[in-house]
Amino acid sequence: HGTMKINSKGHLEIGGCDTVTLAKKFGTPLYVIDEELLRQNCRAFYNGFKKDYPGNEVIYASKAFMTMAICKIIEEENLGLDVVSGGELYTALKAGFPAEKIYFHGNNKSKEELIMALENNIGRIIVDNWYELNMLNDLAKKMNKVPNIYIRVSPGVEAHTHQYVKTGQMDSKFGFPLFNGDAMRAIEYALTLENVNLVGLHSHIGSQIFDAESYKAEIEIMMNFLKLVKEFLGWEVGELDLGGGFGIAYVEEDDPQPIEQIAQEIMQAVKEYSVALNIKMPNIIVEPGRSIIGNAGTTLYTVGAIKDIPGVRKYVAVDGGMSDNIRTALYGAKYDAIVANKAKNIKSEKVSIAGKLCESGDMLIWDITLPKIEEGDILAVTCTGAYNYSMASNYNRLPRPAAVLVSNGQADIIVARETYEDLIRNDIIPERLTNEKR
Ligand code: LLP
Repeated sequence: HGTMKINSKGHLEIGGCDTVTLAKKFGTPLYVIDEELLRQNCRAFYNGFKKDYPGNEVIYASKAFMTMAICKIIEEENLGLDVVSGGELYTALKAGFPAEKIYFHGNNKSKEELIMALENNIGRIIVDNWYELNMLNDLAKKMNKVPNIYIRVSPGVEAHTHQYVKTGQMDSKFGFPLFNGDAMRAIEYALTLENVNLVGLHSHIGSQIFDAESYKAEIEIMMNFLKLVKEFLGWEVGELDLGGGFGIAYVEEDDPQPIEQIAQEIMQAVKEYSVALNIKMPNIIVEPGRSIIGNAGTTLYTVGAIKDIPGVRKYVAVDGGMSDNIRTALYGAKYDAIVANKAKNIKSEKVSIAGKLCESGDMLIWDITLPKIEEGDILAVTCTGAYNYSMASNYNRLPRPAAVLVSNGQADIIVARETYEDLIRNDIIPERLTNEKR
């Protein structure tokens, strides 16, 4: 997919760069980001949701993968940005991302984070709970601001996806529940507050959703709720944020509907409900993360120890693991891989790809058929753009990998590889433990 191909040497190439050369030049593990595919993904969303509906917004859920360079690309592609912490907000602002296109999420924003958002006049604050609503209004009053806000509604829809990534069900830590009237009361109350300007509602139903059906269920519930809000409170909702969650194909069996098609079905459903219910058609906001960056990322590893346990399993260990990709261990996620220096060779043996961290669950891929693999080979695990680097850790004190952006034969570092020095940067030895004192 994207700009991936096999070059004349039989090596995997991405963005016109030979991945074996990239591995040699920048070291491994290495995140490789296909700039062209990233931009194509942005454009699919732009064309699907925004081109014909200028009031709509597509905001990239930066939790999936955020660096300052990525912020630049997102800005160039005319998308907004969804941030969920002071750290993401800081990164966006430092990258010069336009504040009015930043949307701030989170179920437990701190006072400091809200102050930062207010000081910088960001576009929207998505209010999750009563505590936040009151705190925000009080802070805004003191700072003489009136931020634009959404109320986050927990719509009670369950997308058919992994337990830990579905967020719209009734029993959820996110948002004001719809079923018990809490969401309606929050809207009524927010409309009375002087230092917040309620402009829309938000809901999010989960992640890795393959077709429009789950979104249509969400739209049905939310549009009916918009109608109720209009009837009870006399307030017409201008902006409806449907959240993110658009799925991608990690492995061959995954078969997501193309984004343009989902977008068209979503916009059609919104149109139909607004006519049927006789309410103003709201502007639609979507928050894709994974579907923007997921398939644009590939991780290169160097193969080390290979352990064949006859009749049981052949383990192929690489020089990274759950510290740079925790998704297999955490969610049982599935990935595909290519032996980058033997991309043309016939797939002939079943192996499992292990990491180098000290626990049995540290696996990247269980059971994959690959060409005969040897120590020193370069393994490319595909579709690692989303929730890999952003969920990376220093477990076992492994320095986090570098990331390079590749395009037209050019490779630029966008995140430097961490060094051992970085690992001890924040360590402090209290004076009473130093040898001189002993
Ligand atoms: N909007 C909201 C309110 C969200 O909670 C999320 C994801 C998104 C947008 C973006 O969802 P996406 O389009 O990327 O699916 N770490 C997990 C995914 C957790 C997603 C959390 N919220 C994973 O690695 O699969």
